[in-house]
Amino acid sequence: MSLENIFRELQSIFSDQLEIERKAIEALQNASFQDYKPDKHTSLPKEFANVMQEEQAHEICKSILKAKLDWCPPKTSTDRQYIEHSKRKAHVEILGPNGLIKSDMVRIGLYGMLSQSEYGIRTHPAEEIYIALAGVSYWKRGNEKYKMLLPGERSYHPSLMPHSSKTENKAFMSVYVWSGNLSTDDYLYKGLPID
Ligand SMILES: [Fe+2]
Repeated sequence: MSLENIFRELQSIFSDQLEIERKAIEALQNASFQDYKPDKHTSLPKEFANVMQEEQAHEICKSILKAKLDWCPPKTSTDRQYIEHSKRKAHVEILGPNGLIKSDMVRIGLYGMLSQSEYGIRTHPAEEIYIALAGVSYWKRGNEKYKMLLPGERSYHPSLMPHSSKTENKAFMSVYVWSGNLSTDDYLYKGLPID
């Protein structure tokens, strides 16, 4: 089944160098597909498929494109600005409290944003890591300047570190892990950075 392929392939994407990635590997290994029934399927916009088929995209993109997933903007916050800025995102939580497969250890999701989009500064109690799988994105950690993230590269955000992300002329696709306090109650969206 294609979701199981994604879980298996993700285990080789995460490294054992960081604790958050070791936890992700462990949670993926413990996942049970016994009660999983595929939900409705929403197609990914073509722009995502284009970057996911590029030569530099990670191999797992082939499995992600084959899987029947319900792609939609994330609903982490009810903030009006957050909802507006999320329209150009595609997301599915595959493992976690709201995931296709349940886990209370981590949240793991697939997450992308169309080109020419910006998602402003946010903070949350969970520590987080993004690994780029396809396309090009730009990430800002704390007071640092935006840095380009290419397939295979990571952006790590300790608990409560403000971070923001944007795209230019390409879309991107990534996988993220949340570890620690997985609650979204204290997720804060502060809008687009000024500089
Ligand atoms: Fe985050």
